[in-house]
Formats: sequence, structure tokens, C-alpha cells
Amino acid sequence: MWLPVVMDLRLPILCLLIVAEMSLCLRNVRVTVPTAVRKGESAHLFCYYELEDKERLYSIKWYKGKREFYRYTPQENPSMKVFNSVDVERSLSNQSHVVIKALETNVSGKYSCEVSADAPSFHTMIVSGDMEVIEPPPEKPSITGLQSRYRPGDILRGNCTSINSKPPANLTWTINDVPIIQQYIKQYRPIKDTHTGLDTSILGINILVAHAHFIKGKLKIKCQATIQQIYAESSEWYVEEDRPRILATGSSSGHNLNQLYQNSVYDGEIPDQTDMYLQMNGYKADKTSPSSSSAAKQVGAYVKLGWIAFYICTICSVLLYSLRVGIS
Ligand SMILES: *[C@@H]1O[C@H](CO)[C@@H](O)[C@H](O)[C@H]1NC(C)=O
Ligand SMILES: *[C@@H]1O[C@H](CO)[C@@H](O)[C@H](O)[C@H]1NC(C)=O
Ligand SMILES: *[C@@H]1O[C@H](CO)[C@@H](O)[C@H](O)[C@H]1NC(C)=O
Ligand SMILES: *[C@@H]1O[C@H](CO)[C@@H](O)[C@H](O)[C@H]1NC(C)=O
Repeated sequence: MWLPVVMDLRLPILCLLIVAEMSLCLRNVRVTVPTAVRKGESAHLFCYYELEDKERLYSIKWYKGKREFYRYTPQENPSMKVFNSVDVERSLSNQSHVVIKALETNVSGKYSCEVSADAPSFHTMIVSGDMEVIEPPPEKPSITGLQSRYRPGDILRGNCTSINSKPPANLTWTINDVPIIQQYIKQYRPIKDTHTGLDTSILGINILVAHAHFIKGKLKIKCQATIQQIYAESSEWYVEEDRPRILATGSSSGHNLNQLYQNSVYDGEIPDQTDMYLQMNGYKADKTSPSSSSAAKQVGAYVKLGWIAFYICTICSVLLYSLRVGIS
């Protein structure tokens, strides 16, 4: 007899709970935490939420890691409470925004926003995002080890260094604004300063210089250092193509011929110049007067000389003979 009554009571209670749950919708809770912020600047954290028309906000709580540092409770007075762990700019913070100031790199971490709806549900949702505080390098990246002139066939070797940042800067090399492929690059492990905890990045370059690298005899090498979207600086280095000075014989160092042979292995234009060089220095016969004909002329001359000598000898012999006959 009693049992069905109990059953009848249970069902409405269950329905009420379901309806209550659905109408208490706290929707679209989202958080905007800057992924990277420059050290010393303020970070604006934003927590977005939607409440049903009849619903009210009970509280917003912000956590760094697991530690609550900010609470906003509209029905209380004062509605804002700040706990010591993080330096909050009170005048700019409210139920949706929190502004953190004077950032140190130890402020990096996970930030969570917890939204709670008012009674009777106290429905709660929590969302989070990561923030990294960046300490940029104190100066532009520096390029070391490079020379100002290279010949095709030379090895170009150098380093790009970006000092004292957190995290270590990402470095890239380009030649004439084209990124250099991985195999010509050497990534060194960042060096950490044990005192400051800051990192120095080093990226090496090691390529065989080709004539094609030069644009009007010049080559632009650039190293760029970046940290997230916060920092980007670059340094450039200009290289001139060193070509052998064939025609300026007055100032030549005497290594010219040697250099020519080295270069002619790598450069298609050099053989013509080699020809010129050899011609100019008389090592190469003029193509318009083949050597065979001049040899023939020489042979002819020798034959003539031979004949003259022969005639002189014959005359002398005849004279000597006639002298002897005359004496005897
Ligand atoms: C909360 O503060 C931010 C600035 O930090 C402001 O842009 C926003 O309009 C404020 N919101 C309300 C509801 O007061
Ligand atoms: C962060 O570092 C600063 C000084 O370097 C210090 O005053 C502050 O207490 C540190 N904060 C945390 C959360 O460790
Ligand atoms: C580049 O830096 C590395 C690491 O410090 C060093 O071992 C190497 O000799 C440097 N190379 C040049 C060309 O300076
Ligand atoms: C360096 O580049 C990598 C790959 O693009 C990226 O994941 C990383 O966040 C960058 N680091 C910095 C400090 O910018």
C-alpha cells in the first residue's frame, strides 16, 4: 500500500533536479591567458562565461597552479580579494579580468579561472591556460667567425650567438633571405648562466661557397633570433666575392696561376680567363697562324743555309785545288 506512494514522490524529485540542472546552465566558459609576456610588463587575463537570464554569478576565482590568488564575489563587500602570491593590479581587475603586474620570470605557469553560479546550484566550471614570462636578450644576436671576402669553393664557417635570455632564443640563418637547409647548420646546446639562470643560444653555419650564392658579387648572410611572438632581432653580414685579379698584373701577388686552377674547378667562367691569361703571357700559340706552317718556313730557311754553305765549301775547295796546282 505504502510503496507506490514512495515511488510517486521519487519521480518528481528526480525531474526537478534534472530541470534545475539544465536551467542553471553556466555556458561557454573560456579563458584567455597570454602565452608569452615580456618581463616587467602587465598581463591581462580574461575569463569569459555566460549565465542564464535568471542566474547570478557567485564567484570568480583565479589560480596560479593550485594556488588561489584572486577572488571576486559580487555579493560580498569588498567583492575583490587578492592573495599574496601574485601581484594583481586591483584597479584594472573585475569579475571578468585580472591584470598581473611587474612580471618576474617566476610568474610563468598555468593559470586557471573557476566560475561558480549562485545558489541553489553553485554550478562550477574551471578552465586554464599557460603563460610564459620572457626575458629578452639584452642585445642583438652577434655574428662571429666570418670573413668579408670568400671565393667560390671556400668554406664559410661562423657562429650566431644570442646571449642571456629566458627561454633560449631560437636562431635561424639565411643567405640572401633564403633559409639555410639543416645540413649546413650546427645547433649547439644552450649555455645556462648558473648565476642568473639565463640562456645563451649558439647556431653554427658551415657551407661551401658557390658562385651562385653571389648576387652582383655580394652575398647577404643574416641571423635572426626570436622568442615566441615577443622578441625578434637580426644581424646581417655582407660578403664580397673574391675573384682572381688576372688583368691587374702590376698588383698580382704571384699566386695568380695557382688561384686560377683552384677556381676553374668550381667556376664555369674562369677557363675563358685562363685562356686569356695564357695568351697574354705567350704560353699559347695564336690560333690564326698554325705552328706547322712556321715550322715549314724554318725548315726551308735551314735548307737554304745548307745550300749556301755547300756552295761556299765547293768554291773554297776549287780555289785551294787550283792554288796547289799553281804552286806545284
Ligand atoms: C573589467 O576590466 C577590464 C579592464 O581590465 C575592462 O575592459 C572591462 O570592461 C571590465 N568589465 C566590467 C564588466 O567592468
Ligand atoms: C618571484 O621573484 C621575485 C623576485 O625575483 C620575488 O619577489 C617573488 O616573491 C617571486 N614570486 C614567486 C611566486 O616565487
Ligand atoms: C662556434 O661556437 C662553438 C661553441 O662555442 C665553438 O666550439 C666553435 O669553435 C665556434 N665556431 C666558430 C667558427 O667560431
Ligand atoms: C622555437 O621554435 C620551436 C619550433 O618552431 C617552437 O616550438 C618554440 O616554442 C620556439 N621557442 C622560442 C623560445 O621561441
